[in-house]
Amino acid sequence: MTRTNLSDFLNVCTTKQGKGGIDAAMVVLIEAMADTCRHISANIHKGALAGILGSAGTENVQGETQKQLDVIANDMLLESLAQTGVVAGMASEELDDCSPVRGCEDRPYLVLFDPLDGSSNIDVNVSIGTIFSVLQNPENGLITNESFLQAGHTQVAAGYVVYGPQTQMVLTFGDGVYGFTLDREAAEFVLTAERMQISEDTKEFAINMSNQRHWYAPVQKYIEELLMGKTGPRGKDFNMRWIASMVADVHRVLTRGGIFMYPKDQRDPSKPGKLRLMYEANPMSFLVEQAGGTACDAETRILDIEPLDLHQRCSVVLGSANEVNRVLSYHQTA
Ligand code: AHG
Ligand code: MN
Ligand code: MN
Ligand code: MN
Repeated sequence: MTRTNLSDFLNVCTTKQGKGGIDAAMVVLIEAMADTCRHISANIHKGALAGILGSAGTENVQGETQKQLDVIANDMLLESLAQTGVVAGMASEELDDCSPVRGCEDRPYLVLFDPLDGSSNIDVNVSIGTIFSVLQNPENGLITNESFLQAGHTQVAAGYVVYGPQTQMVLTFGDGVYGFTLDREAAEFVLTAERMQISEDTKEFAINMSNQRHWYAPVQKYIEELLMGKTGPRGKDFNMRWIASMVADVHRVLTRGGIFMYPKDQRDPSKPGKLRLMYEANPMSFLVEQAGGTACDAETRILDIEPLDLHQRCSVVLGSANEVNRVLSYHQTA
């Protein structure tokens, strides 16, 4: 079997015209992203030995206590992407406002990232990840927060790295989804999954059941029917998984199908869900659609939401198309 590493793969993409085709600047960007994530992975691998576990004692703009690794991963990505020569600015879960690369407003790309996804799992040695979304720089002067407020369907690349039993990078440029596994000895990512596909049907769902009492009626009805199993209206048994790292839960959906939900609920009407549109929901929705799945906020396609704020939240329902469409229909008839 011939071995294709990430660089080989990116080179082939530069020869494609149109869908899935990329330029030399994108190659540099993705190589830098992969290399930084390889270093983040090495830190995670050492854990307590590297003294990187536990809280940083600070809060981010969303009022979450930052873990040391949230801050370390964020700083590593900011530094390495600024040095690529192709990134004009970055925005992150861990920054109040965007971080323009001073004097480089004419560079072609903007990057949004969730540097460390699944923070609550860091200290318990459960899979975590990094999520990223690449946008074209609108190149209309200074880089401000507004420069990043582009709908998800304009993304030119999206991906994540999952730090699990294996470290894997999953990537799309708008022509299918490709998975790479980190070979630590060779210090490179190797292509291990081509054109990943999410099955239309599934018997597996992911939701944080502890929020059940807060859900709106359509979500209550949908989950209740799944839980009734074979003797209920769905006529089959469903299994449940909740890792509490979006990257790991979505990776499972991309690998063996499923539906993943983090719906808005009745607790705080000013918070439409927990997950963030720009650096969690949008990149994951791009990947899911490219793998033949569906992604919505229970009412509309996530990739069509016009963003108003860097850190805005949204409901997320994604994965196997027939299940996601059922959730949509329950909301339409409510
Ligand atoms: P982050 O660690 O980047 O703040 O994201 C956490 C998110 C997401 O990864 C996961 O799906 C969800 O929070 C878990 O929420 P619960 O704590 O409600 O399970
Ligand atoms: Mn967080
Ligand atoms: Mn996250
Ligand atoms: Mn995070």
